[in-house]
Amino acid sequence: MPDNQHEKIFLSDYKAFPWKVDRVDLTFKLSPKATRVLSRIAFRPDPAAPAAPFFLHGESVRLISAAIDGEPVSPDVTDRGLTCDVPDRPFLWEAEVEISPEENTALEGLYMSNGIFSTQCEAEGFRRITFYPDRPDVLARFRVRIESDLPVLLSNGNPVASGKGFAEWDDPWPKPAYLFALVAGDLQPVRDTFTTRSGREVDLAIWVRKGDEHKCAWGLESLKASMKWDEETYGREYQLDIFNIVAVSDFNAGAMENTGLNIFNSALVLASPETATDAEFERIEGVIAHEYFHNWTGNRVTCRDWFQLSLKEGLTVYRDQQFTSDMRSAPVKRIEDALLLRARQFREDGGPLAHPVRPESFVEINNFYTLTVYEKGAEVVGMLKRLVGDNAWRAGCDLYFERHDGEAVTIEDWLAAFADTMGRDLEQFKRWYSQAGTPRLSVKEDWDGQTYKLTLTQSTPPTPGQSDKLPLVIPVAIGLLHPDGAEIVGTTMVEMSQETEVLTYDIADLCKRQGKDVARPVPSLLRGFSAPVIVEFERPTEENAFLLAHDTDPFNRWEAGRNLSREVLLKRAAGEEADDAHLVKGISSVLRDTHLDPAFKALVLGLPSEDDIAQGLHAAGKTPDPTAIHAAGEALRDRIAEELEPLLAKTFDENQVPGPYSPDAAAAGKRSLANRCLGLLSRRDDGARAAAQYDSADNMTLSLAALSALLNIGKGDAQLADFETKWRDDPLVMDKWFSLQVASAAPEDAATTADRLTGHPAFNWKNPNRFRSVFSPLANANPAGFHDPSGKAYELMADWLIRLDPVNPSIAARGSTAFDTWERYDTGRQEKMRAALQRILDTPNLSRDTREMVSRILG
Ligand code: PHE
Ligand code: ZN
Repeated sequence: MPDNQHEKIFLSDYKAFPWKVDRVDLTFKLSPKATRVLSRIAFRPDPAAPAAPFFLHGESVRLISAAIDGEPVSPDVTDRGLTCDVPDRPFLWEAEVEISPEENTALEGLYMSNGIFSTQCEAEGFRRITFYPDRPDVLARFRVRIESDLPVLLSNGNPVASGKGFAEWDDPWPKPAYLFALVAGDLQPVRDTFTTRSGREVDLAIWVRKGDEHKCAWGLESLKASMKWDEETYGREYQLDIFNIVAVSDFNAGAMENTGLNIFNSALVLASPETATDAEFERIEGVIAHEYFHNWTGNRVTCRDWFQLSLKEGLTVYRDQQFTSDMRSAPVKRIEDALLLRARQFREDGGPLAHPVRPESFVEINNFYTLTVYEKGAEVVGMLKRLVGDNAWRAGCDLYFERHDGEAVTIEDWLAAFADTMGRDLEQFKRWYSQAGTPRLSVKEDWDGQTYKLTLTQSTPPTPGQSDKLPLVIPVAIGLLHPDGAEIVGTTMVEMSQETEVLTYDIADLCKRQGKDVARPVPSLLRGFSAPVIVEFERPTEENAFLLAHDTDPFNRWEAGRNLSREVLLKRAAGEEADDAHLVKGISSVLRDTHLDPAFKALVLGLPSEDDIAQGLHAAGKTPDPTAIHAAGEALRDRIAEELEPLLAKTFDENQVPGPYSPDAAAAGKRSLANRCLGLLSRRDDGARAAAQYDSADNMTLSLAALSALLNIGKGDAQLADFETKWRDDPLVMDKWFSLQVASAAPEDAATTADRLTGHPAFNWKNPNRFRSVFSPLANANPAGFHDPSGKAYELMADWLIRLDPVNPSIAARGSTAFDTWERYDTGRQEKMRAALQRILDTPNLSRDTREMVSRILG
């Protein structure tokens, strides 16, 4: 492999492409092993761009012929692209290439999935289809002709011609190559329509294989709801006459926003009550919305270069979060988002893979589709909205769309729209995009009997390549409660910009005016999780119990409960004593509170994840022991089940949902609460309720929860076998069957279970969903199993990543993040993890993707 395969690319090296592309005409002669692609591309010199040699990207494409203005040319071809002498005037480039979709197991470019031709071009997949300036700042109008005998031939934009063995598509909106898409196969449409607010009718369709038509209704509902929401909330209307979604079974990511032709991992679009859980219904609704929202945030206004990825992803995640809040419960959604951020993004930001929301360099861009770019990026957008306020937010978004429709832009352009709307300087705020690491907000109180003072101090720990950090602009929402449980200071947004800020409250005066005894208040900090930071504040257990009972901010009410369970688990996992009385009492009052939403109660019943406790112990300078953490969690669940058994049983009974299944938030919330209770009760009733639920369930939410509850108490063999017999022909359900077994295996059996499952006839490791169904729970859902002191799981994971790497580098590279916490653990585990990583790194011909990840993890 030549050296430049592993070259680092820098944001600071950005240069515009020296040509504009006026038109792209593509003809595809489809054939599984030898597809021919003919391209005709009209180039025109761009006098505004710096001169450079004419270079077109191209990888794994065989050049057959090339011509300029009809004259044959012989470009210099390497394994990354071609250079060619070109005239200093507009010219027409024509090329014919051959590619092999069937051998394309990396699933980037044009590939075959179960007999269907499908593409994935983000980020740099188009260069595997033909030679092209494959960069997001080159926008062009595409016209596509597909020649094939397959019945359905789709591409972006509007259909313009079709006949026996061909179809032609025209996309009138200039787009970067990463949004190109083509699908061909024997697919069935499930159709609907949407009328835009200006009265245009848009034909909607979800294309699936025969037999999956009954799983499309929810996707279509979600799509229509998204289209309506974006009109109402952001004034954004859809511009084409048709909107197609295709479900494919082999897909590296979740879904892809190609203009007018979204391509989805079938797991994120297909749903029926019998096959998908409530959580999956919610996720599908959110992902359909996410991809649809990209139409404006990503497609019509796109990114200048891949360093700006969060410009489209952070913003679009923020928008889909808002959508879900509006469709369901805002506090519940906020808690779910905070859970994900803390579990996964804080972990990333605190380890060897930490990088800014806008990275400054990369080797392989696929490695930067991260939780930091997506989820922290969304938090940064949310903070911007909190800082500018709702009106300026909408005005700033309008200005951004108006200024940049049809352009490829930067984070600076995004912020300028708000700076100009507000007449406000956002330079300091911009540090959120360039500074990696999770900021700490330490809080100290002072009380002299009259005046209450809060001293807030911010700091961000060093991260790889960034040792010194500057103060950020942090919106901190604060409220103060009187010990009687009422609020004396309602939620106020403090805009912190210095390293230290002191807030002073004249409590004596406030109390007098409200007719209360003067008393030291209880602070409710970072309400609504107003910034993605870690609050460092030592609170007595009683105060957390008080807030769990009284805080008016739902997020902080949940947070107080979480602090209680976290405190117990952190202590016990470190071998110390801890009293759980406040926790048990707090949970009990929440369960009894008839005003609270069942979905919220379900979240209060959840304990912190084992990885969260490991993170916490590590942050406190201790060495986490995953086995002890797991044992502490199990013991606490036993305790809660024992202490609250009658109440849990009552709650379980009261939250049964009668009638036919509906995925709405209210019904889903009840099922989620009942299922939490079921998990705890199974520890007391020997699985009797769970077995009964499994037998009577008419939907996947209930069956899967019952099966999981049984497996978690070491039972459920019969149900597991029954489940397999019932669902062996439905791959998406079988993915759950694989996952659940690894997730609920006893720690010492996790690696053997995973190993055994890889020998199952249905374990097709080249299918990303199936590969992940075994290895993602091993890495994420069963930390005590992954970190079993024998090192068996490390070995197994390394074996499979090495095997997968030549077949699908991007999935292998992502899998290596399983090891990104190695520095936290004891020397025994550290050595075993390092050895596994080193073994991966020493593999001959390791991909650029995995090499970059493993090198960064090893540091
Ligand atoms: N752009 C897609 C999204 O976030 C994600 C994706 C990235 C899909 C790369 C495929 C490949 O919606
Ligand atoms: Zn996206």
